[in-house]
Amino acid sequence: MKGIILAGGSGSRLAPLTNVVCKQLLPIYDKPLVYYPLSVLMLAGIREILIITTPRDKCAFEALFKDGAHLGLKISYQVQDKPRGIPEAFILGESFIDNKPVCLILGDNIFYGEGLPAYLKNLTSLQTGACLFGYYVKDPERYGVAEINDEGKVLSIEEKPKNPKSNYAITGLYFYDNQVVTLAKQLKPSKRGELEISDLNNEYLKQNNLHLEIMGRGMAWLDTGTHESLHDASKFVEVIESRQGLKIACIEEIAYRLKYISKAQYLQLIEEYPQSQYRAYLESLLTREFV
Ligand code: TTP
Repeated sequence: MKGIILAGGSGSRLAPLTNVVCKQLLPIYDKPLVYYPLSVLMLAGIREILIITTPRDKCAFEALFKDGAHLGLKISYQVQDKPRGIPEAFILGESFIDNKPVCLILGDNIFYGEGLPAYLKNLTSLQTGACLFGYYVKDPERYGVAEINDEGKVLSIEEKPKNPKSNYAITGLYFYDNQVVTLAKQLKPSKRGELEISDLNNEYLKQNNLHLEIMGRGMAWLDTGTHESLHDASKFVEVIESRQGLKIACIEEIAYRLKYISKAQYLQLIEEYPQSQYRAYLESLLTREFV
């Protein structure tokens, strides 16, 4: 399965932080935000990745990840010249997707929790339909919201409803079959002038081809769209990392542990880092028992 990280948008709520740098390159404690969604794709076993970004930020992403080979990945880049909505990712990514199933993750979403890789690995074999994740939140009206019956079947999905039918928000991690490009092309912009991911999901719902996995409360799905949530996400990562002495979303560690790169390549990666706490962490993994 291929993966897309959607890392465009305007990040207007984070101004002035985003006046010259996009949200997805801002720090979440000790690494850029985009490392977190990238690590999710890597943990899912997805190694062919398209990063969609703005004309302004494309060069910065290319400088950060190059072609991905040093991480055992194949990373390519595409520009979205205006934020016309999340489903545009599939239209822009059509040739990359190449008529295959695809996973999309929003470049500003952080997922963390026991069992996440297992959840994800099951889904990379998806061949038909769509699979989304629902997460219980206290403010569902900010998101796409799923109405679910007693058997866990999705009855409706509403985008930013005034009166949400449940507390289950749809997260920014989506798995689709190869119909997704055709369906995305048929969408019409909503009143706010964007293609809506909820409209795309509703197409799958109409076909009775939509599955919702509930992400339990033991998982963290963090938002980074406002100054408070950005700061909270940094605090969250700091607390866990300081307690365990293990990093969240350390992409070099994941590449090494999952054997996407050899030990020689890992040593090379370390060499390229300046002396820093991050480098010291990478070095420490060489002599540490893996947990
Ligand atoms: P949003 O948080 O909805 O929008 P934003 O990031 O532009 O921020 P703001 O509301 O403060 O202006 O976007 C969610 C994610 O999807 C984020 O990573 C940006 C990305 N995105 C795009 O890349 N292109 C788009 O057309 C849209 C709508 C979002």
